[in-house]
Amino acid sequence: MEVVIVPDAAAGGELVAEAMAQLLGRRPDALLGVATGSTPLPVYEALAAKVRSGAVDASRARIAQLDEYVGLPADHPESYRSVLRREVLEPLGIGMDGFLGPDGTAEDVRAACAAYDRTLAEAGGVDLQLLGIGTDGHIGFNEPCSSLASRTRIKTLTQQTRADNARFFDGDVDQVPHHVITQGIGTILEARHLVLLATGEGKADAVAATVEGPVAAVCPASALQLHPHATVVVDEPAAAKLK
Ligand code: F6R
Repeated sequence: MEVVIVPDAAAGGELVAEAMAQLLGRRPDALLGVATGSTPLPVYEALAAKVRSGAVDASRARIAQLDEYVGLPADHPESYRSVLRREVLEPLGIGMDGFLGPDGTAEDVRAACAAYDRTLAEAGGVDLQLLGIGTDGHIGFNEPCSSLASRTRIKTLTQQTRADNARFFDGDVDQVPHHVITQGIGTILEARHLVLLATGEGKADAVAATVEGPVAAVCPASALQLHPHATVVVDEPAAAKLK
């Protein structure tokens, strides 16, 4: 595992965007796995700036979703499909035909999860998976004590995570779905390159457990230690508890 410490979130965004730009230079139809949430926004903004300036052509890139709410219609503004369309696909000039994601409205959610794992494999696998991290060490929505071998599956959100996400639903926790589909940790580990970005002092304990703690299900992100090509990009506040 490589750990890169950058001064601030903007520098982290630029560094990860540059890694994506180089990948797209080598492989224009690369499959990029993307996370939602606040942390990756500087990455998407920096990559979109490279597209606007003509430095990068992302039009043939493909985008794979990490997780999705269960039961929110795909066109709901806070479905992760909608969020990624707004924050990633449109700014990068990628059409929805380049988008891979699980069906959060499927009647048979378990079948939809298995189908998504197959879709990722049939697409050739994720080339670069960008991850954020929860304050409790979760990646995707694999909360603490998720199996490190888990596949894409339905999970129940903790009350804490629902409360954290209420900010996207007019501050009303009751509007936050109870269930999500998330790529499993085993699924995530199949990506060829994992890039975890963590910024802000609130992530310092989780980063220390991820990088220096034991590989353990209590800190799902610690599974990155098992991956042959994992890069952890942290700003100085998030690195504060590294030895
Ligand atoms: C979202 C996701 C989550 C977030 C994590 C951190 O797709 O996979 O694991 O990355 O909850 O969220 P932020 O970046 O908002 O602190």
